[in-house]
Amino acid sequence: MPDEAPRLRYSHPLACGDEESVERARRLAEDLGGRRSVRSFSDRPIAAGILEQCITAAGSAPSGANRQPWHFVVVTDPDLKRRIRVAAEAEEQAFYAGRAPEEWLEALAPLGTDADKPFLEHAPALIAVFARRWDHSETGERIKHYYVQESVGIATGMLVAALHLSGLSTLTHTPSPMRFLAEILDRPASDQPFLLLVVGHAAADATVPGIRRKSLPEIATFR
Ligand SMILES: Cc1cc2nc3c(=O)[nH]c(=O)nc-3n(C[C@H](O)[C@H](O)[C@H](O)COP(=O)(O)O)c2cc1C
Repeated sequence: MPDEAPRLRYSHPLACGDEESVERARRLAEDLGGRRSVRSFSDRPIAAGILEQCITAAGSAPSGANRQPWHFVVVTDPDLKRRIRVAAEAEEQAFYAGRAPEEWLEALAPLGTDADKPFLEHAPALIAVFARRWDHSETGERIKHYYVQESVGIATGMLVAALHLSGLSTLTHTPSPMRFLAEILDRPASDQPFLLLVVGHAAADATVPGIRRKSLPEIATFR
């Protein structure tokens, strides 16, 4: 049984008065509310250091038993991006041409998505997020992870928020199935593809579907 970790004093690094707190919450809702999934990216490169900082932010997410069961692979190499596009489009063609149930295709219809994924090559970076199902200790024993999906989901949400607040756009992409990602990116058996984030600056002529977000009373109950 490992020793209990030492107790450290903690005070919130951003603590402030109520008025400031309310204003910050309002601003965050407005800033994050301006995020949209973008499927058309410009050639503008991503400034050095942003992805590293955003992934560091994501890595500070809470996780079951503090196992931090995630791994992020940043892909900027054109050849790797092309291979990912080819493999993703093959899966998506099968999906749109018959594998997807009619109900799913109906849900996707307003978004206007199809099997072509040029953004996988055009965007300057792809971040493949992997759920790490186990680790190995220094002595080679398998270390079990807990609440892996929940933990990786939270970390990915923080990553999407961090990228957006840094001025970058993203698309959350989930070609189904995603096993090819582990093969192309040479991941160990512990790493299960979770999703693929397409990252860059939105193209000047980018458009997004006009969709409705649920209102606060629709998504929250206060009692
Ligand atoms: C888990 C998840 C999987 C998604 N998969 C895809 C995808 O494979 N292709 C795609 O074009 N959009 C995908 N999206 C983006 C959604 O279509 C998009 O988030 C939704 O329509 C709301 O639009 P918004 O992100 O602009 O608010 C996915 C989003 C999530 C959260």
